[in-house]
Order: sequence, then structure tokens, then C-alpha cells
Amino acid sequence: MSPQPQEAVGAPLSRVDGRLKVTGKALYAVDHDIDAAVHAVVVDSSIGRGRMTGIDTRAALAQPGVLKVISHLNAPTLPYQRNPLPLNPPGERLHVFQDDKVLFHGQPVAVVVATTLEAAQYAAGLVTVTYDAQQPSTDMADAPAGEPQTYARGDADKALDSAAVHMEMTYRAARNHHNAMEPHATTARWDGDKLTVWDKTQWVYGTQMELATVFGMAVESVRVISPFVGGGFGSGLRTWPHVIIAALAARETSRPVKLALTRRQLYFGTGFRPTYEYSVRLGSDRRGRLTAMVHDVRAETSRYETFMESVLSPGKMLYSMPNVRQAYRTVPLDVNTPLYMRGPGYTTASYVIESAMDELAHKLGIDPIELRLRNEPDADESSGLPFSTRKLRECYAVGAREFGWHRRNPKARATRDGDWLIGTGMAAGVYDTVRKDAQASVRLDADGTALVQSAASDMGPGTYTSQTQLAADALGLTMRDVTFRLGDSLMPPAPPHGGSWTMASVGSAVQDGCDKLRQQAIELAVKDEKSPLHGVDPGMVVVCAGRLHVNDNPARGETYQQLLTRNKRTHLQTLGSFTRPTGPERFSLYAYGATFAEVAVDARLGLVRVRRMLGVYDAGRIVNPKLADSQALGGMVGGIGQALLEHTVTDHRDGRIVNASLADYLVPVNADIPSLRAIYLDGDDRKADPIGVKGLGELVQIGVAPAIANAVFHATGRRVRELPITAEALL
Ligand code: MOS
Repeated sequence: MSPQPQEAVGAPLSRVDGRLKVTGKALYAVDHDIDAAVHAVVVDSSIGRGRMTGIDTRAALAQPGVLKVISHLNAPTLPYQRNPLPLNPPGERLHVFQDDKVLFHGQPVAVVVATTLEAAQYAAGLVTVTYDAQQPSTDMADAPAGEPQTYARGDADKALDSAAVHMEMTYRAARNHHNAMEPHATTARWDGDKLTVWDKTQWVYGTQMELATVFGMAVESVRVISPFVGGGFGSGLRTWPHVIIAALAARETSRPVKLALTRRQLYFGTGFRPTYEYSVRLGSDRRGRLTAMVHDVRAETSRYETFMESVLSPGKMLYSMPNVRQAYRTVPLDVNTPLYMRGPGYTTASYVIESAMDELAHKLGIDPIELRLRNEPDADESSGLPFSTRKLRECYAVGAREFGWHRRNPKARATRDGDWLIGTGMAAGVYDTVRKDAQASVRLDADGTALVQSAASDMGPGTYTSQTQLAADALGLTMRDVTFRLGDSLMPPAPPHGGSWTMASVGSAVQDGCDKLRQQAIELAVKDEKSPLHGVDPGMVVVCAGRLHVNDNPARGETYQQLLTRNKRTHLQTLGSFTRPTGPERFSLYAYGATFAEVAVDARLGLVRVRRMLGVYDAGRIVNPKLADSQALGGMVGGIGQALLEHTVTDHRDGRIVNASLADYLVPVNADIPSLRAIYLDGDDRKADPIGVKGLGELVQIGVAPAIANAVFHATGRRVRELPITAEALL
């Protein structure tokens, strides 16, 4: 078959929805103009654990415009059918307004519904809740852990005993919050017993299933619409209590309800990257060949759900070694449940492992890249499978050359620029390539334009644009003639928009649907006696700019419009699908990267400034290098935050989060961001999926924090084993 020319895929195109966004025409969850909508404001608990003994709503209800105050005292019993969603952690989800128990500080205890937002906000402040408070347990250091998740190969303890070099370190990483630009928000409307919800979500099908489960409804009776997501980083991967509250408030008041969490409420109304304590013991020979590693991991979770993520994966497969032992325990606390946050699990694990490798390199006097090369595995030692593609060596080589790595003085605290100590560091990154079943509908109209739809999301990577690129090339249309729509549970199903799954999964479905539709049109033409293509071998026909023609004879052909109009067809339609191969994987599927950082540390103040960063990625095929840069540079910014600034602080006396605002929870601002550069290695990975992508959005944050931490060590000679690295720790 003649291959379709690839004109859009691979080109650095601007976002097709960019204009909508910068002109404010992209509508987010509470922007939709819903007739007669009223406003809801959540009242949250001011104790960290205990029971409510009373709720006085009289003053709130006396305010003009207030329609209702709903709490456990007057809320209906909600079915909360047992239906564990794939991304909900095991346990019993928080049941809103169903009893008097308070499980964590900030738990929703009531909601005020009023005709204006101002009235609802004011009245929410007038609701008085009385409590029987108990001391919450929120400090992981003081609390017992649950049963571990474990992994072992070889005999790590024995190997450590006889290792020529033996090191033992404990690293800590602070709790981080996603803090996307758009707060979590929901608009809910009932039409009889049908519910429509406009929500900030990374998975419209998940929100639909969760609402159906909680309200005891048929899934088809719930519609979830989410055309735009103002950033997510994982926080939209499950349905938080406020979504249920919005739907409940709409039902109880018989009015459409808009509910947006405040910035403060996002710190306990949604999840977070949990606090970690991660100890490693490693053994190697004198030349740095690893013989064993033992990983002991502790992370916080809530008392009602056990959140766990893939924090053990990198330790199993990133480096070659015969002996590994791992244990990962969660510590149940009086907090709300954590959730996936960019590069979930891997980000934390890579901070630890890549810091430990740097410590080993320093101890043995081996260059950090050389140490990693000496421990490159030939196959995935956790599964025995061959790698589909693994170009980590090339990431190091290209990175070292482009960054100027070999100009560095290997000695720590040896390079100065006035008062500033200068250091460079590097780290490897790895993230698994996961693809899930997905579908996409494709419709080509007689006017030669196409509509492609899948219930995906776009929290920022540019799904609208990248899917349009794939569809345009496969259909042989220009970008302008293709519209891609997403974010509606009426559309063909897509997996959660997270874990870097979307491009591989939805992209493969879009490719399939568009390939099928193009073939359908070609078949129609070659069988049509009136077509100039009549009798031509279908495999010899390609489509360019909406015109079907013989591959080596462009003069012989006709347009989609001519073909469909003559055949009296209003449109052609197909359903594309991608099904994850069943049975055990035949390859070890991962994307890889190497991140390099240069920092300057003020010798007297301990202030750390990142001066420049470079990321080199083995992520398979890059559909749009401009969008990829947006991901990579954003990932580096996220990593700078994780390394140097971000830290959710809890007051363990009452479980309150004390820095629940963007004034106090620090994220990088423009002045913190230096020159950032990303390089993508050529190539694709057709063993991973039909379109050859390995996923990029998570990978680009993994390896950033350890590269910075290693650079800080190189600058100062001080190893800080805790994130974020603060000035206090360096003084
Ligand atoms: Mo990202 S944690 O996969 O949304």
C-alpha cells in the first residue's frame, strides 16, 4: 500500500485551540452559560479528627439569596454503590454528608447554595459547626505503617554483606500539591432524572461512572462534558467530593449549580503527591558495578483509602544488578487521600536512585555518566524481557556533548563565580509506556471536511492539535479541514488522560479510524465507473489535500467532494479503535531521558539558582516538536519547583495545612526559570503502539529534581537528602 505523505505529523505546529484560549473563548467548568444557575460554596471542617456535635445554619439561611444549606443533618442518603473505579485507591471512598464523622482537616461538612456567588460565600462564613475534636495523627514519622508491597530477586542482604562498597542513605520528599491554574470546579444540572455535569476532569468516563455509582443511577443517565482543562498534573484523575456536592446541591434545590473550590480548598479538597521517606542500601564493586540494592519506602495515605503508586518500578529495572529487595509501606494518617501527580511514583524513585548513584560516583571517584554506563542492563532484569527500544546511552552521549559535561571539574565545591558556587549535575529518567483501549469516530462530509471525536481530555499537552495532525495526514486533508473534538461522555471511549497514555492510546484509535475511512473512500472510487480512479489498485491510491490520486500519477484523481457528491453520499463514517494487545507483554516498554542542570549557590545565603537545564529524551516518535517542547520545558519547571520550592506544610497539632495559598506554597515564577532546552532522539517505537510513540508528559519531570540536587552537591559539597532543598539546609 502506498504510504500517506506525512505533512502535519512531525511539524512544529501551533495549537489549534490557541486562539480560543488567549481570547477567553475556551470555556472551563464554571464558565458555561447555564440558564438559571445558582452558586454553591463548601464549608469545610476546622478540626482534623472527631465528630460534629451541631451545625447552626440559621444566620446563613436568613441571608437574602440563600436557598439552602445542606449537611449530614438534612442530606438524603446516597446509595454509594460499591463500584471501585480503576483509578480509585482501594478502601471506602469519602461519603459526603452521610454522617457526623470528621476524618481530616478541611473535610466538607456543609454546602451553602445561593442565587449569587457573593451571597453563598458570605453565608458560608455564617454557618457555625461545633465539634467534639480529637488529636489527629498527620505526621508520618510518628505513625505505624501498613503491610508492605514487596519485590525481590537474588539475595540482596547477603550480597550487601560481602560488597566491596556499601552505602546507606535515607531521602525524604515533601508533600506536593498539583496547583493547576484552573481550580477544580463543577457545574451540575438535572433534567428530570438525567444529570449533566460540566467538570474539570482528566477522564469524563470516570466522572460519569463515579456519579452513577454514588447516586445509584444508570451510567447512561449521566453526561459529563469537559472540553477544556486548565492544567491537571493528575489532580483530575478522580472525582473529588465537591463534584458529588455540586450534583447533590443541584438536585436538592432543583436549580443548576456552579461550584468552584477556592485555591485554599484545593489543598484538602483534592489529592497530592504524598510525603515520602525512602531508604536505600547499595552495594557495588570497586569499579562501581552494582551488586545489590535494598529499598525501604514509606509514604502517607489516608485512613479510608490506601493510595499506592509505581514507586518501586525504577529500582527494579533502571540498572543492572543481580540482587534487589524492596518494601513499600503506606502510613495511614488523618489526611485526605493522595493521588497521582506528574510522573507518579517514578519522580520520587528517580530522585532517590539518581541521588544515590551520584553519591556512589563521588565516593568512587567515577564520572556520574560513566558509572551509569557501567550499570546499563542488556535486558529488563525485572521481567527478563528485551527492551522495545532503550537509547539511554545515546541520551547521555548527546546530553554530555550539548551540555558541555566534560568541561566540568569533577571536584565538588571547586568552581566559583564571585560569591556563587557553581555546580553541574545529571540524572537519568525513566517512565513506563502504557497504552489502553480507545476509540474514535471519524466522519468525512461531502464538503471535504472531517470531524474526529473521542472522549479524551486536554489538560495542556495539546491533544486537540496532535490528534488533528494524525487525522489530517491519515485522511489526506489539511489541518484546516479537520476538526477534533474531545471531552464529552457521549463520545467514543478514551482512557484516563494521564500517565502519558493519551497519545499512544487515542492517537492509535484516531489513526485506525482515519486509515479505515481513507480506504473506504478509495474503495468507493476504484469501483465507481465514473471515477477517474476506476479500476486502479486501491493500494496505489493516496490522498493529498482532499484529493485522491494515483501515487505515481498525480494527474489521475478526484477530490473527496467530487466522489461523495457524485455518489450522493452526504458523508462517510468509521469507528477507529485501538485494543491493547492481550496476553503477556513481549517487550519491556519504557521511555527514557537524561537531564542536566547547572546551578549557582550563594555561598553566604544558601540561595540556589538554576542557571540552565538540558533534557534529552528517548520518547519514540514526536508528533509535534513545539508541543513536545511545551511539555518538556513545563516538566523542567515542575522539577525545579519540586527540587527547590514546593512543600505542603501541615500543622501536626490540628492537621491544618498552613501554607494553602500560592503566596505561601511556592512554585517557580519566571525569575526562577533559566535557559531550558530539550532534545528528542530520532526514531519511533512500533513495538509499543501502531503510531510509535512512547509518551512524554511524565518523563520530562522525572530526573529533574535529582539533576538539580546533584548539581547542588557538586556546587557546595553538601548532600541534602531532602526535597525541597532549602537555603536553611545549605547553611
Ligand atoms: Mo498525570 S499524574 O498522569 O495526570
